Amino acid sequence: MTIHDEYRAKHAKSAALWERSRQSIPGGITHDIRHLAPFPTYVERAAGTRKWDVDGNEYIDYWMGHGALFLGHCHPAVVRAVQEQVARGTHLGACHELEVRWAELVTRLVPCAELVRFTMSGTEATHLAMRVARAFTGRSRIVKFTGHFHGWHDGAVVGVNPPYDVPMSAGVPGATLDQVVICPPNDIKAVQVALERGDVAAVILEPAGGQSGTTPTIPGYLQELRALTTRHGVVLIFDEVITGFRYSPGGAQAYFGVTPDLTTLAKIVSGGLPGGALCGRRPLMSLLAFRGDPDWDRSQRVAHAGTFNANPLCASAAIATLELCADASLQARANKAGEELRRSLSDVMKRVGVPGTCYGEASIFHVSFEGKPGLAGPDRPRRAGLYHLLRCALMNQGVDSSMNHGWISAVHGDEDLERTVQAYERALGAMVAEGAFGGA
Ligand SMILES: Cc1ncc(COP(=O)(O)O)c(C=O)c1O
Repeated sequence: MTIHDEYRAKHAKSAALWERSRQSIPGGITHDIRHLAPFPTYVERAAGTRKWDVDGNEYIDYWMGHGALFLGHCHPAVVRAVQEQVARGTHLGACHELEVRWAELVTRLVPCAELVRFTMSGTEATHLAMRVARAFTGRSRIVKFTGHFHGWHDGAVVGVNPPYDVPMSAGVPGATLDQVVICPPNDIKAVQVALERGDVAAVILEPAGGQSGTTPTIPGYLQELRALTTRHGVVLIFDEVITGFRYSPGGAQAYFGVTPDLTTLAKIVSGGLPGGALCGRRPLMSLLAFRGDPDWDRSQRVAHAGTFNANPLCASAAIATLELCADASLQARANKAGEELRRSLSDVMKRVGVPGTCYGEASIFHVSFEGKPGLAGPDRPRRAGLYHLLRCALMNQGVDSSMNHGWISAVHGDEDLERTVQAYERALGAMVAEGAFGGA
């Protein structure tokens, strides 16, 4: 049986749902990343490190809510908090104490966070960050790096996947694309040249490297970037949607010891429910506040709305999560699991005779069939078929991980890791047996 034959045999109900979904949902999926050939699985429920699909298959999960579930699925403290809050009201149409407690936790944990404003997603957070930086500096251009992902809004679609001169999406006006200056990662000279133009409001980056560290940031680079942006009066934005509360209780900025001006957060910050945040230095964040001067409030203030911002249901999950994430032993445990898994999976790849390696930092692992990417960025999009096949082969073996990364939670244990390594060995073995790497 081929990998796809086995996948189809194990996922008959998922296949039927996918057929149905395409009648009412474009392409049958609700997030581009769920695109999977031959078809995606439909998951019914989850608990801890496991999830179960509609065909009854069990998986050790490394998607973990796209990295949002650092405490695993349905952590009892989060479930309790949400259950209690849902009965008290999901939207109070008013300020409430939970948003204050949530903001206090963020400002306590994240080094740059003097003030925080909640959004409903990471995309909204990076959109707002760019707006605040532009308002603060009076300049319009944003420097971003090739391979770095900051959500799907118009200002962030440039230079995400190779070929980098083609935006990630159609439908974005050229005038908007022109506002973004793209630089290669880890090349401080390129940023210096860009900042010397004098029209740059901000530099935004994923501090640990583009796409969850797929292209890792080299040591010392963040310090150089901090010094350079300070010298030019340019706002430094760390997009910590992935790394926030994961690399350490204070995110990548505490882990690497470099404090940006603004930080964007999502995923873990709202405890596995929808949400995000922009936080940062008081002079920048204060641009969002009313001052009581009608002219300033109307024309110079940064406007920000959002029906569900800081709604009490998300706030309750967030507080329960962040109170636990404040204990650095959780990140230490997950980071150690990350180290072990990366080492074991690299060994498996060698043993099975598969090209590439497994690498990463903290509690994230990347499986790459081309090795660590260089400045040209990952080759993954061109080889999508191979990564889709890996995902199917892994699901046949009871593990679900994104095409090339996995997010380890604080509750993945030794048994999970052992079974994962065995599953990778069988999955990669099946790929080799099928001749999947023939032309690699
Ligand atoms: C670094 C980074 N920034 C921004 C986003 C967008 O966040 P959201 O999906 O909540 O809009 C993501 C999503 O994965 C991300 O990884």
